[in-house]
Amino acid sequence: MILAPMQGLTEAMFRRVYERCFPGAIALAVSPFLSLTHNIASARGGISREILEDVLPENNLGAMPVVPQILGKEADEFIALADALADLGYSEINWNMGCPVRKVVGKRRGSGLLPHPDLVRAVLDAVVPRIPTALSVKVRLGLKDSSELQTLIPILNDYPLASVTIHPRLGRQQYTGVPDLDAFADALPRINHPVVYNGDITTADHADAIRRRFPSVADIMIGRGILYSPTLPLDIADPGRDRAADRHLVRHFIRELIAEIHSVYPSEQSQLRKTKEYWCLLWKSLPISELQARQVLRQEKLTDVDNLIGTLLQ
Ligand SMILES: Cc1cc2nc3c(=O)[nH]c(=O)nc-3n(C[C@H](O)[C@H](O)[C@H](O)COP(=O)(O)O)c2cc1C
Repeated sequence: MILAPMQGLTEAMFRRVYERCFPGAIALAVSPFLSLTHNIASARGGISREILEDVLPENNLGAMPVVPQILGKEADEFIALADALADLGYSEINWNMGCPVRKVVGKRRGSGLLPHPDLVRAVLDAVVPRIPTALSVKVRLGLKDSSELQTLIPILNDYPLASVTIHPRLGRQQYTGVPDLDAFADALPRINHPVVYNGDITTADHADAIRRRFPSVADIMIGRGILYSPTLPLDIADPGRDRAADRHLVRHFIRELIAEIHSVYPSEQSQLRKTKEYWCLLWKSLPISELQARQVLRQEKLTDVDNLIGTLLQ
């Protein structure tokens, strides 16, 4: 089972805490994207630590293994970043061809690449022979139409990719609507690489349904579901397991995550913002009402947020 990249959520801090609380439950994570910037490699200093921060080995001590993800299409910068990641010890990198954010799409990055097969081929042609790592990709069905992935598949098949992760939505859908499993079914047998399914898995039953309908899927990737229910990977791995201790496990995880936020984020303001970002999804793992959850989001002081969450965790 693979942890999805989620900018601002599945960062190194989260990956460390999750692995500490649920050792081995997640085999691999893909990092939130590292964005290519113009002149990413300065002439002398190499890639800045700021860009690499999330995947620096010292920040990932105790975390599950991670595959760094790259967003962008500039071949020289891509290769420079891949070189730096290889120097850090990484043997695989992932190319983001799915991000639906309008500004990203406008630059033909993320899912903005999907309607441009010639551009995708040009990037792969330039990059694949020159990077020292394996390459996997994460795609959507298309930006505006699922025929876009169909057109891309023969191109993806021309390169030795480690895997293709498909989130079966269109870029323009963002996260609305439901994953189009029929379009996923059309794409799956045509891809000559291991295929990973990603999208809206929030229960063990759902994961099981995906595995039963698509037995050739190599792995599944879960994103928001792990925040709605931190024990989800355990349920998926062993649906019949004893859940008696789950209440305790989930509360312990939330406490550990908040403690880590306090130790990693420098200011009270950033700790407050970060705690609320996680709380927006994590509260669903607790037997509390939406009204109670919203009360936390209304607090303006860190101590009030911490106290209220502390009460709700009792
Ligand atoms: C807040 C947020 C940030 C995300 N950041 C990234 C990212 O950096 N790279 C990426 O490939 N996908 C990103 N995604 C998409 C997720 O990896 C995943 O494809 C999507 O959430 C669907 O899976 P899920 O339903 O299991 O959450 C992000 C999603 C969310 C909600």
